[in-house]
Amino acid sequence: MTATKASAKSAKPAPAKFTPIQFAAKAIDPIKQATQCLVIACYEGVKLSPSASAVNAADADQLEALLKRENFQGKAGQSLLLLNPQGIAAERLLVLGFGAAKDGFVSADNYRKAVQKIGEALRPTTTSEITLALADVSVVEQDAEWQARQVAESLSLLDYRADKLKSKPADVSLQLKKVIFGATKTQTPGATKGLMLGQAIARGVNLARELGDLPGNICTPTYLANEAKRLAHKQPKLSVNVLEETQLKELGMGSFLSVAAGSDQPAKLIVLEYKGGNKKQAPVALVGKGITFDTGGISLKPGAAMDEMKYDMCGAASVLGTIQTLLELQLPINVVGVIAASENMPNGNATKPGDIVTSMSGQTIEILNTDAEGRLVLCDALTYTERFKPKAVVDIATLTGACVIALGNHATGLFSNNDELAKALLKAGEESADRAWHMPLWDEYQKQLDSNFADIANIGGREGGAVTAACFLSRFTKKFAWAHLDIAGTAWRSGGAKGATGRPVTMLVQYLLNQV
Ligand code: BES
Ligand code: MN
Ligand code: ZN
Repeated sequence: MTATKASAKSAKPAPAKFTPIQFAAKAIDPIKQATQCLVIACYEGVKLSPSASAVNAADADQLEALLKRENFQGKAGQSLLLLNPQGIAAERLLVLGFGAAKDGFVSADNYRKAVQKIGEALRPTTTSEITLALADVSVVEQDAEWQARQVAESLSLLDYRADKLKSKPADVSLQLKKVIFGATKTQTPGATKGLMLGQAIARGVNLARELGDLPGNICTPTYLANEAKRLAHKQPKLSVNVLEETQLKELGMGSFLSVAAGSDQPAKLIVLEYKGGNKKQAPVALVGKGITFDTGGISLKPGAAMDEMKYDMCGAASVLGTIQTLLELQLPINVVGVIAASENMPNGNATKPGDIVTSMSGQTIEILNTDAEGRLVLCDALTYTERFKPKAVVDIATLTGACVIALGNHATGLFSNNDELAKALLKAGEESADRAWHMPLWDEYQKQLDSNFADIANIGGREGGAVTAACFLSRFTKKFAWAHLDIAGTAWRSGGAKGATGRPVTMLVQYLLNQV
């Protein structure tokens, strides 16, 4: 292995110097509450919630008149900011539309849509503190804890800024620092818990976004390993072990190492063990693809949008983000994180199309395309995971462009050799609005991976490319219940809003919460 060259000049992220938004749940009086902004609810057909009605009455029906004048109908996601409301103590009034209230209940989707508008509505203002008078909004099958979680989750996501590497941050930014979640006495304990949960999830998501957005010259395999060690600092429940290339060689990880061969950056297998549960409890293993830049290798990618291949470590980032949330929640379960971190580069040592390598499992692989590298690093990481005797293994990978063609940017592709595990993940995705769609893993697809010269080829042709990639992984996961999440379409956005989404941290956390 060549020594790492002194790293080229790279911008350093500015030290994180910011205060996160703070949340508290308590009883409030919407009329008397001294606040910079009172947030109230309106349903479709301009039907005011009880709190909003009280505000309207205090204001001599001016609120209703204004809503009508501005043609505000109360549709989900509509919002109207009113300055200097009369008759109440608040300096501003933010009216949110929650959509149809059937028998007094709004849908979970509409509740999310409504609270997501808060940040957008306040961004152009100097509001630093708000009070939500939403305790009387009822959501189908959800309680105050759930509602508080949605509020904290969606607002704390705004703590993430993608402009840390700009010499001057953008001017227009949200000033919000404090949120009071109005709750009745009986709601307060649940709401307080929900606020904590929402913040913990958002911080995990934001960590995944931050790592995803970092460029390849900063976020190298070594950087990811250091990030894992940073997470474990002063955390008795978490231990981290970073395996170097010499160790990977001893383990027989010829497939993983074939990807790292063409890069000057040393590859790392990053192993995190979170022990929050009973010693005897089998862990859930999360295995992340951590290609910190994917050029395609000798099967070089075309230049257009190649910068986006810095996001090829978003699976790894989601493992770290999920563990960050676990730590914050101190969940009583056991979770193992395994991250296969490497660059995929085309130097003189690089693997060539036609090369045959031996994986840790003993199966030989004909590498017909060096750009199908994710499966090559993951197969050895999956074999390594056997030693933890996991009750379930979930790998997370920006694995195939074909998955983006199949599902677009809305659903993560889910493949599994175990229907119970698949169902649990689908359910967690629904519950957390971070959804996956079940894809086939039928034997019929397997023969596309036949090779004349090795046990298996690393590509299966254009047809069903996301499925054959999953089929490849399935050859290495026979010893445990396993699911594969192809996040190629969901881990980041392209175009003007380019940026990591932090998916599927929310789904994974929900899945783990459901195990407790
Ligand atoms: N990291 C890519 C997958 C990818 C491509 C994700 C574009 C998101 C957008 C992966 O390593 C890859 O290059 N896959 C190839 C596989 C092919 C060579 C069989 C692909 O999808 O083109
Ligand atoms: Mn590739
Ligand atoms: Zn890749």
